[in-house]
Parts: sequence; structure tokens; C-alpha cells
Amino acid sequence: MFLSLQLLLLLAVLLGTDGYYYSMIKECISSSSDMVGAEYIDSYYFNKQRYVQFNSTVGKFVGFTEFGVKTAEIWNARSDLLAVEIAELDRVCKPNLEIQFSHILGKTVEPKIRLRSEQQASGDHPAMLMCSAYDFYPPAIDVYWLRDGQKVTTETISIEEMADGDWYYQMHSHLEYTPKSGEKISCVVEHASSKKPIITDWDPSLPQSEKNKVAIGASGLVLGIVLSAAGFIYYKKKTTV
Ligand SMILES: *[C@@H]1O[C@H](CO)[C@@H](O)[C@H](O)[C@H]1NC(C)=O
Repeated sequence: MFLSLQLLLLLAVLLGTDGYYYSMIKECISSSSDMVGAEYIDSYYFNKQRYVQFNSTVGKFVGFTEFGVKTAEIWNARSDLLAVEIAELDRVCKPNLEIQFSHILGKTVEPKIRLRSEQQASGDHPAMLMCSAYDFYPPAIDVYWLRDGQKVTTETISIEEMADGDWYYQMHSHLEYTPKSGEKISCVVEHASSKKPIITDWDPSLPQSEKNKVAIGASGLVLGIVLSAAGFIYYKKKTTV
């Protein structure tokens, strides 16, 4: 019944190609950067069945199936194998976790802010603004609105920060309001990446989408004039020769 680690590794290679999976999953777990309570977990699976596991807090192998219990018994009796496993927490886990904590979790990336109109006021409908923060890290963020310097506590809807899946996060906040002339509306973002709140003022002159339309229209007009002028000159040249 006893299989050596090397033989199991070989089996993994041979069986893997036919769709059977013998897997070893090594995990380093720590909930804080000081490594207090850090754990090294070394688990052995056949297909999806975990059958034996080393847990550094327990300090030995524990079996989960009949075969696993027997395997644990045999592996625990091998002091050389056990010594290697026990040493992994200090040898592999702690140094690597420390690198991850200082190089990833300790870093901050400032959000890119975009403030835009979602809906213009018309009749009974209030106007709606959306303030978006993109590509920031870490996820903790505070987004709120100021109306003439006063914090708006009603009529705001915030959508929780969402993971982009690449360590960056995004977050959106909506403000529903009835515009008054001369007022100043700002979106405020507080995030670990910036000591001061990041304040973006709303420019009500023309919503961005309208500005884009005007810009596209103007570019089209310029392009049209240039092309017709070129065509006209070409035509003139051709006909005079
Ligand atoms: C490792 O063992 C300890 C003590 O039994 C337990 O508290 C901990 O949850 C175990 N870790 C994992 C990942 O199973």
C-alpha cells in the first residue's frame, strides 16, 4: 500500500495525461504582516479527493480517507520527511509572505476620477451625476458629494467597490439632484493613496457626451472641408493641364 513520494510524482505525470489528477497543493497562510499564526499547509489529492495533509500548526500529517490515514501514519513515522515539512514554514512561507506583504499589500495606487452626467434634469425628473473612481488599490475607499461645500447625505447611491481582477478596483457613486443656478457640486474621494481628499468639481456647461458630439461634428466638418478643397484643387489641376 505504501507509495514513496517519488513514485507518486511519477504516477502524477503518467496519469495526468489520461485525465487523472494527482495534485500537491502547498499553501502559506497569514492574516497579518507580522506572521503571527502563519501556517504552512501541504495537501495531497487524487482527483478532487484530498486524502492527506500536513498542517504546520498541527505539526504532522493528518489523513482524511482510509488510505490517507495509513499514508499519514507512515509519513509521520519518517522523521526526515517530517523535519523537512516542519521547516517549510520558516524556510519558504515566512520570507515569501513578507515579500508579498511589503511589495503588494503595502502599495497604494491613486484612483482615476471621472465625473459625468447620467441624466439631465427635465420636468419632474431630477438630474443625475455619476462619479467613478478607477484603477485604485487597496479597495478601501470613501466617495461622497459636496453641494456648495456641504456634504450631501441624501439622494446618493454608492455601488460597492468592485474588483477588476487585476489587483485594481473601481467604484461608482450616483447623485440625484435638482440643479440650482450658481451652485457648486463636487465629488470627493478619500483613499489611502492620497493624504488629501481628491476633489473634482462638476462643470455643468455642457455634459461630456454633448461635448463629444460637438467635437465629433466639428472634426467631421473640418475633414469635409479639407477633402473637398483637396478634391477641388485636384480637379482644377487636371482640367487646366
Ligand atoms: C491547521 O490546524 C489548526 C489547528 O487544528 C486549525 O486551527 C487550522 O484551521 C488548520 N488550518 C487549515 C488551513 O486547515
